[in-house]
Parts: sequence; structure tokens; C-alpha cells
Amino acid sequence: MNSEKNDNQLTRRSFVKNSAMLGGGLIAMPLFSQAGYFNSVDDTIKVALIGCGGRGTGAARQALLSNQNVRLVAMADAFRDRLDNSLKAISSEDDDGVSVKNRISVTEDTKFVGFDAYKKAIPLADVVILTTPPGFRPIHFEEALKQNKHVFMEKPVATDPAGVKKVLDLAAVAKQKKLNVVVGLQRHYQNSYRELLKRVKDGMIGDITSGQVYWNSDGVWVNPRKAGQTEMEYQMRNWYYFNWLCGDHIVEQHIHNIDVMNWFKDAYPVKAMGMGGREVRKGKEFGEIFDHHYVEYHYADGSIMNSQCRHIKGTYSRVDETLVGTKGTVHCGAGQIKAGDKSLYAYDMKKENNPYQTEHDELFAAIAKGEYKFADTENGAKATLTAIIGRLATYSGQIIDWDTALNSGLSIQPEKYAFDANPPVLPDGDGFYPIAVPGKTIYFNEKVSAGG
Ligand SMILES: NC(=O)c1ccc[n+]([C@@H]2O[C@H](COP(=O)([O-])OP(=O)(O)OC[C@H]3O[C@@H](n4cnc5c(N)ncnc54)[C@H](O)[C@@H]3O)[C@@H](O)[C@H]2O)c1
Repeated sequence: MNSEKNDNQLTRRSFVKNSAMLGGGLIAMPLFSQAGYFNSVDDTIKVALIGCGGRGTGAARQALLSNQNVRLVAMADAFRDRLDNSLKAISSEDDDGVSVKNRISVTEDTKFVGFDAYKKAIPLADVVILTTPPGFRPIHFEEALKQNKHVFMEKPVATDPAGVKKVLDLAAVAKQKKLNVVVGLQRHYQNSYRELLKRVKDGMIGDITSGQVYWNSDGVWVNPRKAGQTEMEYQMRNWYYFNWLCGDHIVEQHIHNIDVMNWFKDAYPVKAMGMGGREVRKGKEFGEIFDHHYVEYHYADGSIMNSQCRHIKGTYSRVDETLVGTKGTVHCGAGQIKAGDKSLYAYDMKKENNPYQTEHDELFAAIAKGEYKFADTENGAKATLTAIIGRLATYSGQIIDWDTALNSGLSIQPEKYAFDANPPVLPDGDGFYPIAVPGKTIYFNEKVSAGG
């Protein structure tokens, strides 16, 4: 089962838990918010949502359900219909009858549409939620920090090395300004993963020597082209299939699993090599992304991460991570640590939380208390780069070196963000887009050795 579905089920349970707290009047209002730490004159923490799609709608609800005095005050989206649908969903009762309507103060004057909408919404808030397709994350994050806002931003945080470099530079700005940043790699906020990590840090499995990480599934939605759309609007609506917006599914989804190996090892790979292609994803509606990737990542200490992700219906599905150490193995999805058949630890899955809710509970609690507690940017950027070098490796069939990619300046963004401007990839006369061909697609001339 797709883990995002699991996560959605968790959302509902936590929603109910929180609704019970709302009903019972148990909400802890901030007692001592630090003057100046957020802009509001009272204890209200104002939120702006940038990117009002599925995840943005969920994240906004979760922010409003955190046990702080949070208000949604502004919304920005490239498209008016997406904004309206999102506001309707956030304002509606949940299936369990829970409403956060009284925490929404978005008016016609605080709804903003278009490529520049973010610039108008950000000034109105203390905290911004950045949930557009990831291609925009570096510029939106830059603006949020420039305006001294705390940030919740979804993964990935870029789609190309130039974007990652920018976000890494901004990590230092966020630290210097003491602005909290949570990145939506929600396993970091999930109880089972936190408990497993504690035991790995305590030495239960010895040194991690390899990892196998998976996001194998059926694939995702397609938004077919509609009459009258400019090429830019079509790509923005069908963003999953265009790398400047999405980064390919190895970046957009599989980042979650790749990140776990980096996180538990406390290291990032030095190089990547792999293979991939489009076995069944043949139609023009699938833009330019592959339907499978297999990547071998090498770490400086010689350990290896084997990563596989696939979007092919009818194949074996698995979204999980297995981390192999000298004394035992962590089976993340099952919440277990084993040495061969012997159980060393089993997390009590009945205690599992909804990590999406916890992200917001912890972020808003810190902000309310005036604490600087969350600095997820650097890891978010490096997790993104790990996935990107995987894509560059499978697209080119070459060995991709971390430092070479990071310092390459490689950007796949358009020159101009406008609905009448050209996106960076254009269809041929039959409507098909250029697809990477291993052996022919070349990124860097530098030769990197396979061994070691
Ligand atoms: N952590 C998770 O498990 C998880 C789950 C789902 C999605 N996500 C991430 O959340 C992000 C959004 O994904 P989604 O599924 O909500 O997609 P979506 O298509 O449902 O929503 C994206 C929204 O952003 C809007 N948008 C696009 N460009 C914009 C711009 N320049 N300015 C303002 N708005 C713009 C779109 O119109 C759309 O409404 C992605 O980065 C995705 O990877 C994370």
C-alpha cells in the first residue's frame, strides 16, 4: 500500500483526537510568547498557505489543529480554482464532524492568484506553508526568509542542483535569523522511526554497512491537456511529469526512503550510479519522467544504499527501508530490529502517531514559546540532492559525483515564470517531449571512478 495512503488514515485518527481536545476545552494557549518572535500583537500566530493543493490543504488543517492560537489569514495559488477548492475543503467539516472554520480569516483581499501571489501572501503571516510543486521551493523559501517568517515546507526543496545550492545557502540565513524551519520529511516526526533511531544510535545494530530503500507503486494522477491552455498552464496543471516542476518520482516520492538511510547513517553519499527508463509510461501525457529507477549510492565509508522506485501498475508494491548493520538489521516499516531471526526490538505500533500532525504540533509549540528549535533545511536540501544525483545517474548512465553535481550550477528552471512564457521543455510536432537516453544524455564531463 502506498504509505501516503497510510499517512492519510493516520491524519484522520489524530484529527479525532484533537477534536476531542477542542471540544473538551483542553487547548493549551501560549502563555509566554516572546515579543517580536512572531509579528502578531496578541498570541495569534498567523499562517499563509502558498500552494493550495492536496498537501497544502492538509498542512493548513494540521496547522489550525495544532494546540496553539493559529489563524489562516492568506492563501496563494497559481490558479483561482485550486485556491477556492482548498479553502472550501479547509472550511468544511471533516468526516468525523470536526471543523476548523473559526480559525480561518481569509477574505477576498487575502486570496492571491498567479506566479507572484506568494509575494503578496507572505507579508501577512508569521508562518508560511510552502506546498507548491518543488520547482518553486527555492524562490518561495528565499522570500519567506527575507520577510523573517518561520516556515513549514514540503519536500523536495528543489528539482535541480542550482536550487539545492540556493536552499543550502538559505539554511545559514534561517539559522542566523533564528527562524524555525520544518521540512515535510515526516518520518523524522514519526514515533516508530524516532524509537528505531535511538536504538541505532545506542549501537544496537553496530555500524550500518548497507541499506535497501523502496518506493514501488502504481504511479500517480495525470491531468490531461485541455483546449485553450498555453504550454505553461498545461505543464503547471500536469506538473508531476515535468522535471523543472517535479524532479521525477525518484525526487518527488522516493526522497522519503532515501532520506532515511542518510538520516540513520548521519552521512550523505559521495556518488551515485544506476539505471532506469520508461517501460510502460509511453504516452505524451507522461511528459519526460521515467517509470523506474534503480540506483546504487556510495558513502565515504564504503557502505552502499540500493534504491529502487517504480511507477508500474500490476507490479510488486513496497514503500519501505531496510538498514543493515554489523550486528543487526532495522526493518523500518515494521518498526523492528532483528539479528537474523532473533528480535532485538519491536516498536508497539499501537503507539504510532500521525507524523503530519506532529510536524505542526511541534513547530507551532516552539513558535508560541519563542523557541528556536527546528533547522530542517540543510538535511532537506541534502536529501533532495541525494535523490537528484540518482536521477542524473539513471538519465545519463554515468557515475554522478556529489560535489560535482552540487557545484555544477545545473538549473532546469524556465527563464521567465508567466503563462505566456515557454517552459524549459517543449513538445515536438506530435506532442511528445524529449526523454533522457542513457549514454547520450550528458551532464558533466568529469570521469568518476566506479570503485571504492
Ligand atoms: N510529505 C508528504 O508525504 C507529501 C505528500 C504529498 C505531497 N507532498 C509534497 O507537497 C507538494 C505539493 O504536492 P501536492 O500533492 O499538494 O500537489 P497539488 O498539485 O495537489 O498542489 C500543488 C498546488 O500548488 C499550486 N501551485 C503551483 N505552482 C504555484 C506557484 N508558483 N505559486 C503558487 N501556487 C502554485 C498548484 O496550482 C496546486 O494547487 C509537493 O512538493 C509534494 O512532493 C508531500
